[in-house]
Amino acid sequence: MEKATTTAFLSFALVLMFMQSFLALGGGGAANYTSSDDQSALLAFKSRITYDPNHILATNWSTNTSFCHWLGVSCRRRGQNRVTSLDLSNMGLKGTIPPQIGNLSFLTYFNISFNHFNDHLPAELGQLRRLKVFELISNDFSGEIPSSIFNVSAIQWINVANNSLSGSLPDYLCSHLPKLKLLRLSFNELSGDIPSHLGECRVLQKLSLYGNKITGFIPRGIGNLTLLKWLYLGENNLQGELPPDICSSDVHGLEILVLERNQLTGSIPRSISNCTSLRVLSLADNKLSDSYRGYLCMGINLRGSYLAALGI
Ligand SMILES: *[C@@H]1O[C@H](CO)[C@@H](O)[C@H](O)[C@H]1NC(C)=O
Ligand SMILES: *[C@@H]1O[C@H](CO)[C@@H](O)[C@H](O)[C@H]1NC(C)=O
Ligand SMILES: *[C@@H]1O[C@H](CO)[C@@H](O)[C@H](O)[C@H]1NC(C)=O
Ligand SMILES: *[C@@H]1O[C@H](CO)[C@@H](O)[C@H](O)[C@H]1NC(C)=O
Ligand SMILES: *[C@@H]1O[C@H](CO)[C@@H](O)[C@H](O)[C@H]1NC(C)=O
Ligand SMILES: *[C@@H]1O[C@H](CO)[C@@H](O)[C@H](O)[C@H]1NC(C)=O
Ligand SMILES: *[C@@H]1O[C@H](CO)[C@@H](O)[C@H](O)[C@H]1NC(C)=O
Ligand SMILES: *[C@@H]1O[C@H](CO)[C@@H](O)[C@H](O)[C@H]1NC(C)=O
Ligand SMILES: *[C@@H]1O[C@H](CO)[C@@H](O)[C@H](O)[C@H]1NC(C)=O
Repeated sequence: MEKATTTAFLSFALVLMFMQSFLALGGGGAANYTSSDDQSALLAFKSRITYDPNHILATNWSTNTSFCHWLGVSCRRRGQNRVTSLDLSNMGLKGTIPPQIGNLSFLTYFNISFNHFNDHLPAELGQLRRLKVFELISNDFSGEIPSSIFNVSAIQWINVANNSLSGSLPDYLCSHLPKLKLLRLSFNELSGDIPSHLGECRVLQKLSLYGNKITGFIPRGIGNLTLLKWLYLGENNLQGELPPDICSSDVHGLEILVLERNQLTGSIPRSISNCTSLRVLSLADNKLSDSYRGYLCMGINLRGSYLAALGI
């Protein structure tokens, strides 16, 4: 009897210990970071700020108060204090991002848009496996977009437009991003081809590669993006014909199709008449065959708003 109780107690204790280590792991993660690691990561971030016109971080990010009360920082409500959101957008900040950012293992929202952050993006960003929003539009980042970010399967929103990012996109880009809704890489210096696995971003709604140096063909898989609403591929070096299935699905809600200023050839695929939600179409400055003009007028229901934005 006593032995049985002891055994039961021991198993109970073991279960508790297991649960504790599970919780310390933050639900099964690889790294065992804690609240104090989050503080160190934020302080590392602060130490990399070289210009802070309103002295926001200098005065507000003080260890006298919990980092959960620091401006732009939000923490989860339960358990140990862990950073879930970092919003330092529009503060006129200059600086670089330290690799310690990757230790903020509970981070879901990261927005440092409209600042002057520069240098490269650390590969450690790819360790943020809970990250949903990654937005740093209008900064001065250069170098490649670390491909590790395209392995963060929770990610829903990637907006790095208007920087000086270069290099090519990994071919597997969409293979690990089942939740990606927005991918905005416009106004950078990206080269190489459009990833051929693009069609695997099944819930993608907005895609912009406008104003880069992207080459090659528009991949066929684009017709598999049945939720796509905006497609901006203008001002690149794309060639070849438009994929025939660009509007193939009858659930297709494509509203904006901007392909201007490339070297596209051939004619417009007939399937475009199935894009009944289209309101902006710009094909100007390509090498498309002239016949498409007449065809377009017959094939598509031209509405006022659509005509206004028809760039041919
Ligand atoms: C996390 O903690 C466990 C148990 O203490 C340990 O085995 C593991 O190596 C730690 N992981 C890291 C990344 O430090
Ligand atoms: C930092 O800013 C927040 C939000 O404005 C404020 O609540 C907090 O008191 C400030 N902390 C310090 C130390 O200035
Ligand atoms: C932090 O607390 C110390 C001691 O109470 C105080 O001297 C210091 O001025 C405080 N710093 C800030 C930034 O509030
Ligand atoms: C990021 O910050 C900018 C500027 O404050 C804001 O306009 C934008 O909506 C934010 N992005 C997201 C995804 O919340
Ligand atoms: C945080 O990240 C940095 C750089 O990636 C690493 O060197 C450091 O050991 C990490 N800190 C902790 C407490 O794990
Ligand atoms: C792009 O960023 C620069 C500064 O980095 C800014 O001056 C410019 O207005 C931004 N352009 C857009 C379209 O946001
Ligand atoms: C991304 O994941 C793939 C497949 O799991 C792996 O082969 C690749 O090395 C990963 N890339 C990075 C940069 O982590
Ligand atoms: C489009 O999706 C279908 C059905 O899942 C698949 O068989 C086909 O290979 C995909 N096409 C491309 C080009 O990705
Ligand atoms: C338009 O969509 C319908 C329904 O999916 C399909 O049968 C038809 O072939 C499509 N038309 C063109 C020109 O692709």
